[in-house]
Amino acid sequence: MAVFVGLRLHPRLPSLGAVFSCSPSPALKKWNRGPQTPRRMVLGLASSFLLQFMTMAATRRSTSSFVASARIKATSSLDELLKNVEWPEQFPFKDEDFQRFDESPDSLFYEAPRFVTHIDDPAIAALTKYYSQVFPPSNTPGVSILDMCSSWVSHFPPGYKQERVVGLGMNEEELKRNPVLTGYAVQDLNVNPKLPFEDNSFDIITNVVSVDYLAKPLEVFKEMCRILKPGGMAIMSFSNRCFWTKAISIWTSTGDADHVMIVGSYFHYAGGFEPPQAVDISPNPGRSDPIYIVYSILTVK
Ligand SMILES: C[S@@+](CC[C@H](N)C(=O)[O-])C[C@H]1O[C@@H](n2cnc3c(N)ncnc32)[C@H](O)[C@@H]1O
Repeated sequence: MAVFVGLRLHPRLPSLGAVFSCSPSPALKKWNRGPQTPRRMVLGLASSFLLQFMTMAATRRSTSSFVASARIKATSSLDELLKNVEWPEQFPFKDEDFQRFDESPDSLFYEAPRFVTHIDDPAIAALTKYYSQVFPPSNTPGVSILDMCSSWVSHFPPGYKQERVVGLGMNEEELKRNPVLTGYAVQDLNVNPKLPFEDNSFDIITNVVSVDYLAKPLEVFKEMCRILKPGGMAIMSFSNRCFWTKAISIWTSTGDADHVMIVGSYFHYAGGFEPPQAVDISPNPGRSDPIYIVYSILTVK
C-alpha cells in the first residue's frame, strides 16, 4: 500500500504560489500544460525517502520548523507524489548524500564513447511521445533547447528541428554524432556546475537518465533557472537503471518514488521554478523499463 505523509512548513513561510506567477515564454505560450493545483503536502510512496527526509530535517533544526502530520492515503500513481508538497524549510540532504562509489574524475569514466542506449525501446518511445506532446512544434522561430547530459541520442521526435539545439555532455565523439544537435559543449558539471550559456537563452532543458549523476544538483538547477527564459520548461526523465558507481548515494539507496521526490526537491530548493510535477510515462509497467518525468516551468524572474 502506498503511504502519503504530510510535513507542514513553518507557518511564517509565505506560500510560493503567492510569490510567483506564471507567464509562458513567447515561444511556449501555445502549450497548455494543465491547471496549477493548490499546494498540498505530500511525501511519498516510498517510506524510505520519507524516513530519511524527516530524520534529516529533524536533526538539523528545531522540530518546530515543520510538523510531521501524517496523512495515510493509498495511491498507485507516482503522478500524485509532487502535488501540493510542502517542503521542509531547508534542503534536507547532506554532502555525503551526493558522494559516489567511484569518485574518480568523470572525464575518465566517459573518456570512451558509448554508442548505446540506456533504456529499452518502449521506454524511449514513451519519452519521445511525451516530448512530441510538450515540445514546441519543429522549426518554431526563436526556440532554443538544451539537452543536458547529452550523448549521441536525445530521443527527440523523428525529424524534430529547432534553430538551436545544444547538447552538453562528457564525450565529444558522442555529441558530434547526435543528429539533432546544432552545437555542443563538453563540460563536467560535477567539476564546474556553471552552464556555459547566457541568461534567458533556452526555452526547454531536457536531461535524460542522467540527473542521478549530478553531485552538485542545486548549483546546476540554479544555473538552469538562470539560462531558461521565463516560462521555459525543464524536463528531467529517469528510469530505474544507472551506472551504479557513478550515481549519487542518495539515489542508489532509494527507489523510484524517492527519486521523484529527490528531483522535485532540486527544483524546489533551487528557487525560481513553479512547483515541480511528476508524470509516470512507463509504457508497460513491469514489462519494460519504467520512465518518469519530473518537470517544472520557470516562473517570471
Ligand atoms: C546514462 S548516459 C545518458 C545519455 C543520454 N542522455 C541518453 O539518454 O542516452 C549519462 C550521460 O550523462 C553525462 N554525464 C555524466 N556525468 C556528467 C557530468 N559530470 N557532467 C556532465 N555530463 C555528465 C554523460 O556525458 C552521459 O552522456
